[in-house]
Amino acid sequence: MSTVQTILEALEPFATAPPAVPRAMPAPFYTDADFLTLEEEAVFRKEWVCLGHAGEIPKPGDYFTTDLVGEPLLVVRGRDGAVRVLSNVCRHRGNVVAEGKGNARLFSCAYHAWSYKDDGGLVAAPLMDKVPGFDKADCGLIPFRTELWQNFVFVNLDGKAAPLAPRLEGLLPHIDPFQHQDRISVFVTDDVWATNWKCLVENFMEGYHLTPTHPRTLHPITPTSLCRKIPGTVDYTAYESHYSPDTPERTPYHPRLPETHRRHSTLFCVFPSFVVSYASHFTLYLCLRPKGVGEVAIHWGVAGYVDSVDAPEVAPYVALCNAFNAEDKAKLETLIKGLRSRAYVPGLLAPDDLEGTIVDFYRFMADRLADI
Ligand code: FES
Ligand SMILES: [Fe+2]
Repeated sequence: MSTVQTILEALEPFATAPPAVPRAMPAPFYTDADFLTLEEEAVFRKEWVCLGHAGEIPKPGDYFTTDLVGEPLLVVRGRDGAVRVLSNVCRHRGNVVAEGKGNARLFSCAYHAWSYKDDGGLVAAPLMDKVPGFDKADCGLIPFRTELWQNFVFVNLDGKAAPLAPRLEGLLPHIDPFQHQDRISVFVTDDVWATNWKCLVENFMEGYHLTPTHPRTLHPITPTSLCRKIPGTVDYTAYESHYSPDTPERTPYHPRLPETHRRHSTLFCVFPSFVVSYASHFTLYLCLRPKGVGEVAIHWGVAGYVDSVDAPEVAPYVALCNAFNAEDKAKLETLIKGLRSRAYVPGLLAPDDLEGTIVDFYRFMADRLADI
């Protein structure tokens, strides 16, 4: 039996009847290159994948570039205000068009100077009017299906995924009270960690590690003992990390933030790879993309109910995020080394409030890989 088949066999029960006492997946789930190829085709090309927050590109012409399973992408706000995800590949001979991020009136391919508008339409192609059959209208940058949800930009590469918002309705009672839509983008950055993408999804979504991994950063605020699972589905998982009674109020929060949401954060994952924390004061989000079996690209940012990025509460919160991210990174980069061991035998998962989110994630993976 191939390694991929072995992994699928271990996943399969999670699709229908998860074991009463679930166990972690076998190591090749995280380390096998052939399984990553399968994930890229069956998950990342077929599902909604979050690329960032719409507030990162607030003005017409604002853009950033990224890539997903080898597809160069251009995320851009048009003059009509719409956010689009376009193929960042020139319609002439296929060079990459835009680089980095910024604001542009036109996107001009540096190879032979074909130029595109912010909606992808081709506006100039030097000397091409002499070519019989050439028609600018047929040569715009290819648009990918895009959906905005909670101000986050999602792309679906194969164009066939079921609409996202209806699948996430069950989350809304848990997250709407935080008034995330009124939070502006205040910080964004990119990083690469030497671990499998699923290790980071699971790490973000399980509260079991909070106290031992983050003794001085998160344990004093959100200790492991106060984590409570929220029922998940095949589309998302979530839990609440309640604040220690010793933690002062976390501000600035929205005037409509109800009393019930002032003493916990809700962390959720929109499968496959968008992990988010809505705290009483700030939103922290991580958009994950696999970059080889042992590397994950992370586009992460913070949004807050503040007037500007210079609000005094922003820098301390970003510093806290950087501190606990460094702690997670260290753990996840040794985790992948341990998982490459042939001696490792998967252990039992911690109780539902702490690692039940991982079971939801396995169920998602089992569901998406069931018919391949
Ligand atoms: S490849 Fe872009 S103009 Fe030729
Ligand atoms: Fe962590």
